[in-house]
Amino acid sequence: MPMEANFTDGRITEHPIFKFDRGKEVSFYFEGKPVKAYANETIAAALYANGLRIFSRSMKYHRPRGFFCGIGRCSACMMTVDGIPNVRTCMVNVQDGMRVSRQNAFPNADHDVLSIMDKLGFYFSLASGFYHRKMIHPTFLRRIYVKILTTFIGLGKLPPKESVSGLHGSKVSEEADVVVIGGGPAGLTAALEAGKRCKRVILLDDKKMLGGQLVKQTHRFFGDARHHAGVRGIRIAEKLTKQIGELGNVTPFLGTTVFGIYEDRTVAASQGDRLLKIHAKKIIIATGAYERTLVFENNDLPGVYGAGGVQTIMNTYAIKPGMRALVVGSGNVGLILSYQLLQSGVKVVAIVEALPKIGGYLVHAAKVRRQGVEILTSHTVVKALGRKRVTGAIIAQIDDSFKPIQGTEKQLDCDLICIAVGLTPTYELATQAGAQEAFVPELGGFVARRTKFMEVSDGVYVAGDVSGIEEATTAMLAGQIVGVHSSLKLGYGLPEDEKQLEAWVKRLDEERSGPFGEKIRRGLGSLIISEEDKIGVYPTVS
Ligand SMILES: Cc1cc2nc3c(=O)[nH]c(=O)nc-3n(C[C@H](O)[C@H](O)[C@H](O)COP(=O)(O)OP(=O)(O)OC[C@H]3O[C@@H](n4cnc5c(N)ncnc54)[C@H](O)[C@@H]3O)c2cc1C
Ligand code: FES
Repeated sequence: MPMEANFTDGRITEHPIFKFDRGKEVSFYFEGKPVKAYANETIAAALYANGLRIFSRSMKYHRPRGFFCGIGRCSACMMTVDGIPNVRTCMVNVQDGMRVSRQNAFPNADHDVLSIMDKLGFYFSLASGFYHRKMIHPTFLRRIYVKILTTFIGLGKLPPKESVSGLHGSKVSEEADVVVIGGGPAGLTAALEAGKRCKRVILLDDKKMLGGQLVKQTHRFFGDARHHAGVRGIRIAEKLTKQIGELGNVTPFLGTTVFGIYEDRTVAASQGDRLLKIHAKKIIIATGAYERTLVFENNDLPGVYGAGGVQTIMNTYAIKPGMRALVVGSGNVGLILSYQLLQSGVKVVAIVEALPKIGGYLVHAAKVRRQGVEILTSHTVVKALGRKRVTGAIIAQIDDSFKPIQGTEKQLDCDLICIAVGLTPTYELATQAGAQEAFVPELGGFVARRTKFMEVSDGVYVAGDVSGIEEATTAMLAGQIVGVHSSLKLGYGLPEDEKQLEAWVKRLDEERSGPFGEKIRRGLGSLIISEEDKIGVYPTVS
């Protein structure tokens, strides 16, 4: 296959914590060549394991792009699959005989002659929005301009009508007392509590397995025993999933993406070629968060990945992401990721942190330091080196205003730069359901105003990272609170529920009481609204 020189089977065969079930061996075609894969792998994971690093080319300048988020949020991995363009290959499993190719490059994405635009774009002045200023007159030529532009940019080609005439989608209507969107720790506990009380609960998640971020966590959690302290994240996910299965009245729909919440609490979701229309009496949004990136030279080069994307490739699909990694950010995510990289046999060349002190728990920092990893505070990455993939990085010390100090630059030899600089809540569905949003930097970005019991508009709740970036323990508590409160509002409940609810709210306050919770407390300050302040204007659906 037309890939980079180092063609290796990058699959991890042994791991100190995980046991991987790859499923049966299958074979699919990548740009005409057969590729070995396993049924439980996504297309992106299988291609990565086989050495592919350039997944696409950027729209305008045709710069090489690699896998980044691994969870369907960034579009860097879009390819044409069985004739359908723009398929996010990190979200779709491989199938025997499937045909996959990269798009919008000539003759292929490894050697794209259109990448000349990266050098010449400046002279043509292709600055952002140029198509609104140029190529608009005379109007009768606009159709031709559009055709030229779409040939060059990254939107793929629609297949001929005849080749898709055999595809028929279906539509399914469902009813539920409570619909939970997102199956991470918040969604799982919400579905569990609602399932214990209501007649029918539907749990929707766009991944093929439940657990959200937990499925990538090999380390034992902190906290107290009531919230799984001492248990590894992956085991917590398994335990909650099993408890939900035992209830019998919670129906999970996996591989199902919710794209809208409409009037009368109608949830619209797609599952492959199936459209689901679900009418819910109460909706719980627990969609978590997505990763931020960082501005530095060449930050789009294949090999610069989000920390969660690296965890996905390594801990979900058991593929070695690289040989030598630079980790950017020393919060808990950066520290834990560094330890997980070491577990998978990847050398961590350094962790750089812009702040003058380590952001995460010192116990995690001590663990990686014991393995010989240097943590450089007041440092950042200023440039990724390499032409088609990362071959190194330049780091530098920074001053009090976060500017690199000249003369402190240092070159590191690495093929992986992992960005762990924070998360942003996935708040969009809450806004669509009528929530009032506020920008709260302490909570990670836009979040919904909510009542004490996390209701954001009439019958719609939020829980977990979507309501503000915290951690799994608080996400699970919030899930329990909304699961019980929504059930009580529907007239279902267990004896002592009111008392239980107050106890969990108190417990959540306690979780946020330490020095690590100071930022969260500040962020939450102005967000609580009264029952009367809730609004709820949904878009209409016909
Ligand atoms: C490296 C790392 C280490 C961590 N370590 C700890 C720790 O030690 N202790 C701790 O308490 N916490 C830890 N956390 C934090 C914790 O994992 C998160 O705070 C927690 O997972 C948030 O839970 P959640 O349910 O809100 O979201 P998530 O776990 O992100 O789950 C959200 C789910 O919703 C799905 N989803 C999103 N949008 C849609 C949609 N439109 N349709 C359908 N499904 C959708 C997502 O795919 C996902 O499965 C760690 C996180 C990371 C990344
Ligand atoms: S959408 Fe697939 S890697 Fe981000």
